[in-house]
Amino acid sequence: MVETLTPTSSPPCFWRRSWANHHHQRRWIPSAASFFVTTHKTLLTALCLAFFFTVFYWQRDAASGGFLIFRRAFPLRQLPKLRPVAFNLTEFGGVGDGVTLNTAAFERAVMAISKLGKKGGGQLNVPPGNWLTAPFNLTSHMTLFLAEGAVILGIDDENYWPLMPPLPSYGYGREHPGPRYGSLIHGQHLKDVVITGHNGTINGQGQSWWKKYRQKLLNHTRGPLVQIMWSSDILISNITLRDSPFWTLHPYDCKNVTIKNLTILAPVFQAPNTDGIDPDSCEDMVIEDCYISVGDDAIAIKSGWDQYGVAYGRPSKNILIRNLVVRSNVSAGISIGSEMSGGVSNVTIENIHIWKSRRAVRIKTAPGRGGYVRDITYRNLTFDTVRVGIVIKTDYNEHPDGGYDPNAFPVLEGISYTSIHGESVRVPVRIQGSAEIPVKNVTFRDMSVGITNKKKHIFQCAYVEGRVIGTIFPAPCDNLDLYDEAGNLVRRSSSQNSSDIDYDI
Ligand SMILES: *[C@@H]1O[C@H](CO)[C@@H](O)[C@H](O)[C@H]1NC(C)=O
Ligand SMILES: *[C@@H]1O[C@H](CO)[C@@H](O)[C@H](O)[C@H]1NC(C)=O
Ligand SMILES: *[C@@H]1O[C@H](CO)[C@@H](O)[C@H](O)[C@H]1NC(C)=O
Ligand SMILES: *[C@@H]1O[C@H](CO)[C@@H](O)[C@H](O)[C@H]1NC(C)=O
Ligand SMILES: *[C@@H]1O[C@H](CO)[C@@H](O)[C@H](O)[C@H]1NC(C)=O
Ligand SMILES: *[C@@H]1O[C@H](CO)[C@@H](O)[C@H](O)[C@H]1NC(C)=O
Ligand SMILES: *[C@@H]1O[C@H](CO)[C@@H](O)[C@H](O)[C@H]1NC(C)=O
Ligand SMILES: *[C@@H]1O[C@H](CO)[C@@H](O)[C@H](O)[C@H]1NC(C)=O
Ligand SMILES: *[C@@H]1O[C@H](CO)[C@@H](O)[C@H](O)[C@H]1NC(C)=O
Ligand SMILES: *[C@@H]1O[C@H](CO)[C@@H](O)[C@H](O)[C@H]1NC(C)=O
Ligand SMILES: *[C@@H]1O[C@H](CO)[C@@H](O)[C@H](O)[C@H]1NC(C)=O
Ligand SMILES: *[C@@H]1O[C@H](CO)[C@@H](O)[C@H](O)[C@H]1NC(C)=O
Repeated sequence: MVETLTPTSSPPCFWRRSWANHHHQRRWIPSAASFFVTTHKTLLTALCLAFFFTVFYWQRDAASGGFLIFRRAFPLRQLPKLRPVAFNLTEFGGVGDGVTLNTAAFERAVMAISKLGKKGGGQLNVPPGNWLTAPFNLTSHMTLFLAEGAVILGIDDENYWPLMPPLPSYGYGREHPGPRYGSLIHGQHLKDVVITGHNGTINGQGQSWWKKYRQKLLNHTRGPLVQIMWSSDILISNITLRDSPFWTLHPYDCKNVTIKNLTILAPVFQAPNTDGIDPDSCEDMVIEDCYISVGDDAIAIKSGWDQYGVAYGRPSKNILIRNLVVRSNVSAGISIGSEMSGGVSNVTIENIHIWKSRRAVRIKTAPGRGGYVRDITYRNLTFDTVRVGIVIKTDYNEHPDGGYDPNAFPVLEGISYTSIHGESVRVPVRIQGSAEIPVKNVTFRDMSVGITNKKKHIFQCAYVEGRVIGTIFPAPCDNLDLYDEAGNLVRRSSSQNSSDIDYDI
């Protein structure tokens, strides 16, 4: 049976239990809800408390971050040697006391490795400790290895952060005109770079940046935590990134990028623009096996902003995103846009668990962007307590300046949603095309989402053309054609352009 309408008030600790379970076992048990329904009330309360405390203690640990880990005694763990030559940051004068500035030590290490390119490059081991530093650059054929308990701490005094020209496809810093702050860990025109470890941490100490941003004390756009530009053959794995001043991990105009098994954290509230990963004009990219919980989109695929992005003309394409658990309390789990003026195509997003989020998956754009979003495949998404599940928004009007072409309408087409499930969703679908930006060739297949709301107006559409194959829940809007499981047309829609968008739900 396809209809799986769940009780409107799911047990208050449902998500906590699910999450605690996931966190400790990296596994998901989908039958949690039925389990609760059949269990005795007292036992239920006891379980709630037990799981609550599990999560409470985890969160307490997470809140104190690297410092807590650092207090633990580390068994001396053999670090793998991934390059012919490996260095220890201490050999370059590094001091991991959390106070000494290590910028020069990092720069000397990178300089040494930059001379080893022809011999296969070099590995820089960052041992346990708190290594305070200003921004520094990576080099080609380099592996940055963060041991267990190693924390690279970004200095939070902006005077230490270099200014860089705006990204060409944005024209602007993004928050301010003119130059922008560079990233804590930066690289341009590189090849063969690895950032990995035994779950060491890169911590941007974003708190003071977020505060200054809110108080409007900054004159330039904040810097990302890690930004790699115009580079290829990049691997980032097995580490934790946290509290970035701005976007966390920003690969810009890169090719062949693998991001695997990362934990990306920032407060889910009042940590503005701390997107997890922003693939921007990138191609041939895989993001997999990550846990991301941040103050903005967990992932946002981009390709430049309005006239600047159109002129730069570099799409994001051939991107595979899979096996993630994501949380975004203020934005969305996985986004495309809103800056997509160079185009976005051939993206697969599968096996994603989105919990306690405002939106699950969103495509956002506006007149003036130009470009396209096409051949996007969503498969096996689980929504666990989200307000709006699937979103397409075509009036995200945020422009760099008045120089954009209001008639540059993006093309949205070839978007499919298969095996979409979940619980506690207020509005499962809100696809808002417009006369200028109709959403074309959308497909829904195998969807059953438990809802928290009245059953009317929860599958909202405007200017959408496409189809539903088989039965889905909730029942689709009238804009879509209906097919049976065998692919035979059941009813052709005559109201693709009708609108049933209601932001009050
Ligand atoms: C790096 O050097 C420090 C100090 O000499 C030492 O304690 C640590 O074990 C070394 N770490 C690695 C990974 O070689
Ligand atoms: C880091 O790289 C950028 C871009 O190539 C360059 O402008 C800057 O001078 C470099 N910084 C250092 C300290 O080498
Ligand atoms: C993920 O990274 C952690 C350390 O951060 C490591 O212990 C674990 O084995 C990695 N998992 C996989 C599947 O590589
Ligand atoms: C890595 O560290 C983060 C933050 O301390 C933690 O949340 C995560 O569970 C750790 N990952 C593994 C695989 O131990
Ligand atoms: C911003 O500019 C103002 C006016 O020029 C200056 O007083 C202030 O120190 C600047 N702030 C920062 C963080 O650079
Ligand atoms: C992609 O980069 C990886 C290193 O991260 C490298 O091993 C692989 O050969 C590259 N693939 C291509 C097709 O260049
Ligand atoms: C991640 O860490 C695990 C355990 O140390 C290791 O087996 C694996 O090769 C690492 N993966 C990557 C992609 O670095
Ligand atoms: C989530 O965001 C809303 C604002 O959108 C805020 O009111 C709420 O406190 C946030 N929740 C948490 C747990 O931070
Ligand atoms: C689409 O992207 C995938 C990687 O996710 C790639 O294997 C495939 O070749 C791409 N398809 C086209 C038509 O480029
Ligand atoms: C669907 O995704 C979940 C993770 O969200 C995963 O556990 C499950 O195995 C996936 N199902 C399939 C059929 O791949
Ligand atoms: C519709 O989109 C699907 C991908 O979801 C694609 O395979 C198909 O070719 C598209 N059809 C047309 C007519 O463009
Ligand atoms: C729907 O609107 C599009 C323009 O967005 C137009 O081309 C099309 O003819 C309209 N279809 C109907 C049935 O009115």
